Amino acid sequence: MGNPLRDPQDRRLPRIPEPCALVIFGVTGDLARKKLLPAIYDLANRGLLPPSFVVLGFARRDWDHGTFEQVAYDNAKAHARTPWREEVWARLAGNIKFVGGAFDDDAAFDRLNDTLNELRDTHGIGGNAAFYFSIPPSAFPTVLKQLARTGMADNEKCGGWRRVVVEKPFGTDLASAKALNDLVDDVFTGHDVFRIDHYLGKETVQNIMALRFANSLFEPVWNSKYVDSVQITMAEDVGIGTRAGFYDATGTARDVLQNHLLQLLALVAMEEPTSFDASEIRAEKLKVLRAISLPKDIHDGTVRGQYLQGWVGGERAKGYLDEDGVPADSTTETYVAVRLGIQNRRWAGVPFYIRAGKRLPRRVTEVAVLFKKAPHLPFNPTDVEALGHNQLVIRVQPDEGVVLKFGSKVPGTTMELRDIAMDFQYGEAFTEQSPEAYERLVLDVLIGDRTLFPDAAEVEQSWQVIDPLEDAWKGHKPEPYRSGEWGPRASDEMLAREGRHWRRA
Ligand code: BG6
Repeated sequence: MGNPLRDPQDRRLPRIPEPCALVIFGVTGDLARKKLLPAIYDLANRGLLPPSFVVLGFARRDWDHGTFEQVAYDNAKAHARTPWREEVWARLAGNIKFVGGAFDDDAAFDRLNDTLNELRDTHGIGGNAAFYFSIPPSAFPTVLKQLARTGMADNEKCGGWRRVVVEKPFGTDLASAKALNDLVDDVFTGHDVFRIDHYLGKETVQNIMALRFANSLFEPVWNSKYVDSVQITMAEDVGIGTRAGFYDATGTARDVLQNHLLQLLALVAMEEPTSFDASEIRAEKLKVLRAISLPKDIHDGTVRGQYLQGWVGGERAKGYLDEDGVPADSTTETYVAVRLGIQNRRWAGVPFYIRAGKRLPRRVTEVAVLFKKAPHLPFNPTDVEALGHNQLVIRVQPDEGVVLKFGSKVPGTTMELRDIAMDFQYGEAFTEQSPEAYERLVLDVLIGDRTLFPDAAEVEQSWQVIDPLEDAWKGHKPEPYRSGEWGPRASDEMLAREGRHWRRA
């Protein structure tokens, strides 16, 4: 029973989930240690978890509850965003449980089921549980079958809600994504499936919708009449780290273009949803994803790169082929640039240039909307030499904010014009720090809010964009680029052929 005095529209009251358990498969992995466990602490610290809340870890380890609690403590403390408070942890500590076993071990899953049942009585979690798949996609079918076999995915049988959270990559192409969707849908009902794209949990990404649909200033010029082109950049200074096995089989296009970058594009380009209901937003994103067109000649409109050794941030960086676990003849890309079009009235003729890469000079993700130049400039040509495009730049990270660039007169005796920037920075405008993407997304899963989760159709549609690219690239080697440079020269040439250049991000 909800509190009759509580108005769900009241923003002063935090949204808090019902009593429940969060079951994490793959709790020893990087994601669980660096993101999920710290996010749980941060949520607890912000008072956003119900008192009856249990984290239940599952992994192939011979641990008891106490060992896992210590692991969770160490990782939460090392990676928490909010200040560490022992008393917050002390409240969580008794609610951290562990079940050990392999994914194909029936007895282990029976134990997991028994544990969830016991926790109803001992910890008052009711029948509610979310299962977080922080495991390699190859293990999904086995775990799903176990959840089905034991009845743990059955809402009715459990007398509560049962949800599943699936991390990307969601498949490796359209066919495998469909197969995976079918498999998940067989075990869970559609609205209990949460596909994570952690970019949607970032404040700056959600703000794209606020910027566009809460203001009257931008929307009138948000179309092909005024926009010259859009550039979306996701640059990382890091290499592939210890993820060679995953990365070499995946490449940049499947790793981040299929999901994060196409989601950014969708939010920038979509029409206004009729409401902020999850299904309305998803419908608009899907429409725009469907309208994406690939370059006629894929080799002319895309560039793949692979990093060589070099220097990044003053430190020597290995070449991709020298990374541990990467085959010496690998043709996997660590950089991708692509020119996409959107076939609708709003965007016809406006190129969307998207690039992403590892071992680039610095970490920056941004969306830049470049406006057309003024049709006529009543100034001396020399006075406007330094004038570029008006630009609206959404800085996703770091230095979160929005920058508007436009021409201004340089103070002095002549009419010299130059671009200047009007800068909104989260750090200055708001006193509170933005939550981590995973805090928001884990909370939404537990509350059952699907707004920030792509649905099956979006995921499949995104693969429709990627599959033809991957087909065309087969058998082609990526272009080399030195670590610490902005990708291969061919990427600059691709834009230069169209009279443009990449914005200095
Ligand atoms: C992940 C990719 O989805 O996003 C990684 O698999 C990438 O390769 C990471 O490093 C980047 O995330 P963020 O939030 O640091 O931009």
